Amino acid sequence: MSANIVILSGSPRKNGSTERLVREFIKGASDAGKRVAEYRVADMKIAPCLGCGSCHQSGVCVHKDDMPQILDALRSADALLFASPVYYWNITAQLKTAIDRFYSSLRINPLTVKRAALLLTCGNAAPDACEGSVVTYKRICRHQNWEDAGIITAQSLHSPEMLDGRAELEQARELGKNL
Ligand SMILES: Cc1cc2nc3c(=O)[nH]c(=O)nc-3n(C[C@H](O)[C@H](O)[C@H](O)COP(=O)(O)O)c2cc1C
Repeated sequence: MSANIVILSGSPRKNGSTERLVREFIKGASDAGKRVAEYRVADMKIAPCLGCGSCHQSGVCVHKDDMPQILDALRSADALLFASPVYYWNITAQLKTAIDRFYSSLRINPLTVKRAALLLTCGNAAPDACEGSVVTYKRICRHQNWEDAGIITAQSLHSPEMLDGRAELEQARELGKNL
């Protein structure tokens, strides 16, 4: 059965802060009766786009890797959650690499996603610590014609335990319910 919501989770760290918030998101979504499929992109074989353009003729990428699993899920899902720690002022390279591969869906066999959301964790407390990731996400939403359904930024985090008692846990559950 196809998922309503696809999660692309970009942290390479298992059981870290990003994963903890993703689990809360999944709880909220499941309680609301939604079907969720999570892909931990750092654990998958996903090669970077070569920019060869052949996918715009054939609809299929020249790379033979795990990306078709994600694209197939996004061709029947309503909504997409991007989850990532901030690495050097942006989403992780692993998540960006997967997003670049959306290129093969722009002309042939497009994605069915209508709404997206962003969940970020970072170590820095500065008000602009998540800015680069948020700008990237919003531009992608506009380009894909997706509604931005919400952004959660959990800052000053160096371990998942630092989320204990914090409002972002409930915010993640709510986002899961409403996305
Ligand atoms: C390679 C690397 C780069 C990072 N760059 C930033 C950064 O630019 N800004 C920031 O606020 N935190 C940065 N951090 C901290 C992480 O974003 C933060 O600890 C995050 O919550 C880790 O999520 P995780 O537990 O899911 O791995 C960086 C961490 C690593 C390992």
